[in-house]
Amino acid sequence: MQEDINNIAKQIEELRNQIRQHDYFYYCLDDPKISDFDYDNLFKQLQALENSNPQFITQDSPTQRVSGSVSSTFNQVKHKVPMLSLDNSYSTDDILQWYARIKKNISDDDIEFIVEPKIDGLSASLTYINNLFVIGCTRGDGEYGEDITENLKTVKNIPLKLIYNQGYSPKFGSQDINTPLEELTVCEVRGEVYINKKDFQMLNDNLVDAEMQKFANPRNAAAGSLRQKNPKVTAERKLSFFVHSFGQVSGIELNKHSQFIDFCSKIGFAVQKDIKVCKSIDQVLDFIKYLQENRDKLAYEIDGVVVKVNDYKTQKIIGYTNKSPKWAMAYKFPARQAQTKLLSIKLQVGRTGVITPAASLEPVSLSGVTISNATLHNFDEIERLNLNVGDDIIIERAGDVIPKVVKIINKNSQGHFLPPLHCPSCNSRIVKETEEDVYYRCVNPSCPAQFQRSLVHFVSRDAMNIDGFGEVVVDQLLKLNKLHTFADIYKLTFDDLMMLDLFKEKKANNLIQSIIKSKQNPLNKLIFALGIRHIGEKSAVILADKFTNIDNLINATQEQLLSINEIGPILVQSILDYFSNEETLSMIKELKLLGVNAIEPEKDKSFSPLADKTFVLTGELSTITRKDAENYILSLGGKTTSAVSKKTDFVVVGNEPGSKYQKAINLGIKILNEKEFKELINK
Ligand code: IVH
Repeated sequence: MQEDINNIAKQIEELRNQIRQHDYFYYCLDDPKISDFDYDNLFKQLQALENSNPQFITQDSPTQRVSGSVSSTFNQVKHKVPMLSLDNSYSTDDILQWYARIKKNISDDDIEFIVEPKIDGLSASLTYINNLFVIGCTRGDGEYGEDITENLKTVKNIPLKLIYNQGYSPKFGSQDINTPLEELTVCEVRGEVYINKKDFQMLNDNLVDAEMQKFANPRNAAAGSLRQKNPKVTAERKLSFFVHSFGQVSGIELNKHSQFIDFCSKIGFAVQKDIKVCKSIDQVLDFIKYLQENRDKLAYEIDGVVVKVNDYKTQKIIGYTNKSPKWAMAYKFPARQAQTKLLSIKLQVGRTGVITPAASLEPVSLSGVTISNATLHNFDEIERLNLNVGDDIIIERAGDVIPKVVKIINKNSQGHFLPPLHCPSCNSRIVKETEEDVYYRCVNPSCPAQFQRSLVHFVSRDAMNIDGFGEVVVDQLLKLNKLHTFADIYKLTFDDLMMLDLFKEKKANNLIQSIIKSKQNPLNKLIFALGIRHIGEKSAVILADKFTNIDNLINATQEQLLSINEIGPILVQSILDYFSNEETLSMIKELKLLGVNAIEPEKDKSFSPLADKTFVLTGELSTITRKDAENYILSLGGKTTSAVSKKTDFVVVGNEPGSKYQKAINLGIKILNEKEFKELINK
C-alpha cells in the first residue's frame, strides 16, 4: 500500500518534470519537442493523478498556474535591493558622451559591453527560494512594489520551479557555468513582462468584439493585464517574460552579465535572442543601428536599446546614482516616419463647437500598422506647414500616439488649406473667439454634431458612466430620433433599444440597468457630464462639494462663484452663461423628475488629515492612476495644484519624478512616496 502511494508520488513528480521541460522548450526556446496532442495527454495524466491524490498537489505543479483567488488589493512588498531605473539617451553623441564619462573612472582601456533590446513592457521581480517561485512583484516606486505573484504564475514562460536545462546557451555564448542548482537558495530575477505584437492585436480584437475599451499599446496591455484582480483574466492574456537583471541572489558566483543571462536561460527562463557582447563602443553603435533597422522583425515591441557594461567588477567601480546605474544607458529610438500623400482634410466638430481638421492619407505601413489618418491639430498648424490636399508628406508616430504630419516632401498643390467659413455639420457661422485663439468654433448651440459629441461625453466612463452606451449606440438613437436632450436618455424603453443593431433581449436589459444605475451618481459626475465649457472633473468635484445640490449651483451668484479659490473668472462666466439658458434649466428639471440624483453625498471632513491641504503630484504612480489620486485628495477635502510653492503642503513623488521633486526638496516641503501617500488617504 505504502509502496503504491510512493509510486504515485514518484509518477506525479516525473510527469511534472516532463511538462516543465516541454514548457521550457515551447515557451522559452520556441522549439517544441512534442505535439500539442502529446503535451495535452501528459497534462491530463497529471491532472487525473492529482485529482485522485490531492494530498500531493503542490504550488509548483504546472496544474497550479491559475490557482489564485480574486483579490481586492495588492499587498505592498519592500524590495530587498532597490529596483532602479535607467538613464535615457537619444543620439550617438549621447552614447559617446556616456562612454567618455565612464572611461574616466576606470583604467582598463577595453571595456566590454552587452547590448540588449529595450522591451516595452512592465518590469517585474521574481523571487525563488530553494528553486521554487515564491513571490513576484511590480517595480512600484523602486522601493516598494505590489505583490502580483498569483498573476505572474499565469505567465507561461515563468518557471514555477527552476530546473537545470543542459545544452542550451544564447548565441553569444559564455564561459561554462558549473553552479549546481541545489545551492541556489535565493534567486531574485528581474525582467520585463510584455505581450507579443500578434497577441496584442488578438487581445484588442477580442475586446472590441466584447464592446470593451481597447489598449492603446502593448505596454498598457501588459500592465493592465498584470494588475487584474482576477488571475483567471491575466491567464487569458498571453503574457511573456524576459529576464534582464537581478536583485538578491545567493549561491552563484558569476563575473559578467552575459554569464548571468546564459545561466538564466539554463535554469528555465526566456532570455532575449538579439543580445550582443561588444568589445568596443563602435561595435555597440553598429549593433544599436542593426536593432533599430530590424525592430519590426521582432515579435514584440521595443522602444530602444539598453547598453550595459558587461563585467561586474567594472560595473561596481563605475557605480550608481540613487536613480539608476551609471554603468548602463538606455538609447531610445526616434519616432518612426513614413512618406505618404494627403488625400483630403476632414473637419470634425467637438462638443464645445471647436472645429478640428484631420488628415486622410493614402494608406501607408508604419511599424507594421496601416496608417490612413493623422492629426493636424488646428488651422494655424496647416498654415505653418503650408499644407494642402495632394501634397506628399512625412508622417511620424511616436509610441502609441496618433500619427502627426511632420513636413511636406513634395508640394503638389497651391497655397494651404483654408479654414471653412461655416460649420460642416449645421452650416452656421464659425468664429475665433479672440485674435490669439487658434480654434474656430461653431456658434450654434443646437448644432447636431456638437450634440452628438455632448451625448458621447455625457454617457462616457468618467461622466455618467453608462456601461454599453458607446458612440455607435448614440449614433443609432440619434438616427431613430430618440434623443433630443440628455433627459431623453432616461426615457429610453426596452423596445427602443431592441431596434438597435445587434441588440437582443440580454443586451437591451443590461443597458436599461446601466442607465438606471447611473441615476445614483453623485452630483459631481452630473456636473461634469453636462459638459459646461472649461469645467473638467476636478472643478466638478469642487463645485459639487461647495454647492451640494444642483439648484444651489444654478442659483449661485457671481460673487459666490468667484469666492472659490480654484474657480477662476473664465470658469465663473462659463457657469453663469450655461445656467442662464432656459432650455438647459428645463432639461435639468426633467432629469431630476426622471430620478437622476442631483445631490452630493455629505463627507465628514472634520477628521480628514487632508482637509485644506495642498498637494502636488509628480512622476508616475504605480498602484493608482493620477486621476484617482487627485480625486481622493479632493474628496477628502484637500486640493491639488500643478506647481510647487511655499504654499504646498505635500509633494507626492512617483516613478521618474520631474523637477518638482527637486524644488520640493529645496523648499523643504514634506515629500510622500506612493506608500506614504496611500497610508495618509487610508487613515
Ligand atoms: S536593465 C537598473 N534591460 O526599462 C535597471 N531594463 O526605462 C536594470 N527594460 O526599469 C534594468 N528592457 O523595466 C534592462 N534589456 C533591458 C530592458 C530593461 C526593458 C526596462 C526596465 C527598466 C526600464 C527603464
